[in-house]
Order: sequence, then C-alpha cells, then structure tokens
Amino acid sequence: MSAPKKLYIKTYGCQMNVYDSERMAETLGGKGYEEVKSPDEADMILLNTCHIREKAAEKIYSELGRYKGLKAANPDLKIGVAGCVAQAEGEEIMKRQPMVDLVVGPQSYHRLPAMEEAVSKGQKALDTDFPEEDKFEAMKSRPKAKRGPTAFLTVQEGCDKFCAFCVVPYTRGAEVSRPADRIMTEARNLVEVGVAEITLLGQNVNAYNGHENGLAGMIRDLAKIDGLERIRFTTSHPNDMDDALIAAHGDCEKLMPYLHLPVQSGSDRILKAMNRKHTAEEYLRLIERIRAVRPDLHLSGDFIVGFPGETDQDFEDTLAITREAAYGTAFSFKYSPRPGTPAAEKTALMVDPDVASERLARLQQQIVQQQRDLQDAMVGRDVHVLFEKEGRLPGQMVGKSEYLHAVHVDGPLELRGKIAKVRIVSSSSNSLAGQLIAT
Ligand code: SAH
Ligand code: SF4
Ligand code: F3S
Repeated sequence: MSAPKKLYIKTYGCQMNVYDSERMAETLGGKGYEEVKSPDEADMILLNTCHIREKAAEKIYSELGRYKGLKAANPDLKIGVAGCVAQAEGEEIMKRQPMVDLVVGPQSYHRLPAMEEAVSKGQKALDTDFPEEDKFEAMKSRPKAKRGPTAFLTVQEGCDKFCAFCVVPYTRGAEVSRPADRIMTEARNLVEVGVAEITLLGQNVNAYNGHENGLAGMIRDLAKIDGLERIRFTTSHPNDMDDALIAAHGDCEKLMPYLHLPVQSGSDRILKAMNRKHTAEEYLRLIERIRAVRPDLHLSGDFIVGFPGETDQDFEDTLAITREAAYGTAFSFKYSPRPGTPAAEKTALMVDPDVASERLARLQQQIVQQQRDLQDAMVGRDVHVLFEKEGRLPGQMVGKSEYLHAVHVDGPLELRGKIAKVRIVSSSSNSLAGQLIAT
C-alpha cells in the first residue's frame, strides 16, 4: 500500500465550517488522505473560508500568499479553497491566485473525491453549483473512531431571511433541512464513539423543518437517545422561536439553558432597514417568555454597529437593549459592506469609520463588563460540568457548564467525557474555577 497522503485543513468562520471541515477530511480519507497539523508537510492544503466581513475574506488571500514558497518547493502540492469565499468569488480566486488548484462551494463537498482526482492529474477543478442532492448523505459517513465528548451536527443549511447586510443567503443558498431519520442515525453514531453533547447547527437552525414538529420535535427525539446527555442549537432567528421550542426550553432536561439569539440592533429604525422583521420590544418580550419557562437561561447575541444610517440615538438604543436583555455573552462587529447585499448600496448613508470604531469600543466595553458581572455572580453556585480535556496546570481538568462557561477543577483524567457537579469558587477573565462535589 502506498503511504497516506497528507491533508492540512484550515478553518475560518462559523461552527458550520468546523463541521464541514470534519466531513471533508473524512471524505478525503476515502481517497487515502490523513489529516496533519501543519501546512509544511501537506500534499493538499484546503482553506475552508468565510465571507461574512471584508476582513475575513481578505485574510484568505494573504494566507494563500504564504503558501507560495511551499508550492515552489513542492510542485505536487495541491491547494484548494472551500467555503463561502469559494462560493462568492469562484473563478476570481484562481485568477487572483493562479496557484490555487481547486475551488469548491459549500453545497458541493460530496463532489470532492472526483475533484481531487482531477487535480491529482494536474487539472484545475471548480464547483460552485447548488446541486439537488443532499451533500451530507452523499458524503462518506463518519468513521467509528473514538472521539471527544462534544460534537457539532449540521441539521439545516442556508437562509431565506435576506438581512440587508448579510452574504449568507448568497453563499449558502436557500434554507434546506436534513431529514430527521438521518440526523437520528448520525447522532446515535456519535454517541457510540463517545459523544455526550451535540450542538445542532444551522445558519437559521430554528427554521428547521425536517421533523414534523420542527426543531423542538427533533430535539425531543434526540433527547431519547441513551448516552446523549446534552443538546444545544445555534444560530437562531427571533422570528423562528416558536411556542414548541420555547416550551422545550422549559421541560426538556437535556436541552441546555443557553440560547444564542442575535438581535443586531436595539433601534427599530435600524432593525427595519436591516430587514430583521421585528422590533426591539418584540425581541425583549420574546426573551421574557423564554425566561418565564427557564429563568436561569444564559442569553447570547450578536450586534452590528455602524450600519448605514445609524445615528447616535440608534446606537444608544443598542446599548440599552444590551443592558435590558442581560446578555451573558455577546459578539459585536463593525458593519462591513458586502458585495451584492442591499445595504452595501447605501453609500450616502455610510457611517464615518472613526465613529463606528468608537461605538464598537463602547459597546464592547459595556458587554465585557456585563459578561464579567454575570460570570462573577456564578461564584458560590453549583453547576454541572461536562469535562472535555486537561487544563493548563498539571492535575487540572477543564469542561463546560450547562451555561457554556469554561470551568476548571483539580481532578483526575478519568473525568474526561463525564458530567460532574461542581461548586464555583472563583471567577477570572474568561473562566471559572470550581471544586468537585459529586459525579
Ligand atoms: N444566522 C445568524 C448570523 C450568521 S452571521 C443570525 O441571523 O443571527 C454571524 C453574525 O455576523 C451576524 O449575527 C452579524 O452580527 C454579523 N454580520 C453578518 N454580516 C455582517 C456584515 N456585513 N458586517 C458586520 N457584521 C456582520
Ligand atoms: Fe444572515 Fe440574516 Fe440569514 Fe442570519 S438570518 S444568516 S444574519 S441573512
Ligand atoms: Fe462565514 Fe459562511 Fe459561516 S460567510 S459565518 S463561513 S456561513
């Protein structure tokens, strides 16, 4: 047998790309590739890219530039670009960087083995179609090797919401849900190889309709799998938080009390211009309803500052909603005009970049403070931690609480993959320290 070829994958962007990279590595495994941790030893380099903001997209070209030397030293090295930049820029990439051999969009990953064959014969391969078939079904199934206690599982892809700022509907296509039985099978297989927590993924995961009772129905079926202890899902849109999903937060024990529910802005004017189709008040009422069934819910969100036309008052409204919604975690970004999106055409309304930077800094400062206060309030409380790996110090183990806080304790390696009760004793900038109470 010939020695395995070496594949290096670098992943940018969201969790869905992390999941896709795993699946691509598995698929290319069938073509004799094994994954390596450094581009220097690779026979194939695959960049799984993100197009969400300009900086993310531009990073790809500087990364490709770094591989020039490697390609010169090893002419057999193949370089591929996958993900959302591949979808958005297609042939442009090969024009800008002729050393790229392969460009594959997110809906065509099942065609990678054939594309690999073409590039190994010295041809170029490009596929940015939106084919009919379910790519995950057509891809090699996940191998039976033992794996870590947490896993991602994509249940839904694409987005029909067309927020005025966002490229996702163009790079990932229309909303498509995977059938419930395939998700059940994949989840059972994951549990068999050691997974205790599954995060269901979708660009708009709560629009999932592959189960007759939607995402809530899917979660309730998954909760029946023995050995699957925890279920999470991300990312949700406020308008798709239906009653059934809210109810599941109240009575489905395996569904963790953490919800990423981006609002983007606290100003109704800006929400309207963003095409979010709800008001700030409606969002806050929704949070209230979820907290009524799950009072300890840890809420997380995303914000964009400097959206075209955003005034000081609009920004104050955003600061206000961040406080009112009491986020445990929030991510904030400076608006980045994306080619082909309606907001990018509003050139006359662009916010001065210095003003936008200043707003971002203020928002982030407030969020960090809020985050820190909520985290500090965990001290003295008991949480359940699913342990994932060894900590930085000898004898330490690290895992995640039900609220997704990183928690470390002094404890044995055997804790890995187990859930234990932990009393929180102290809080530092981005983690909590605790003491084991019981397993
Ligand atoms: N489907 C998810 C978002 C996916 S993109 C949702 O609707 O919430 C992740 C985040 O990136 C978004 O929530 C938004 O805050 C940010 N984002 C998207 N497009 C952006 C742009 N053009 N400029 C700045 N931030 C953007
Ligand atoms: Fe983008 Fe909006 Fe769709 Fe989220 S809901 S992926 S922000 S278009
Ligand atoms: Fe980025 Fe595509 Fe995800 S643009 S955020 S990798 S869906």
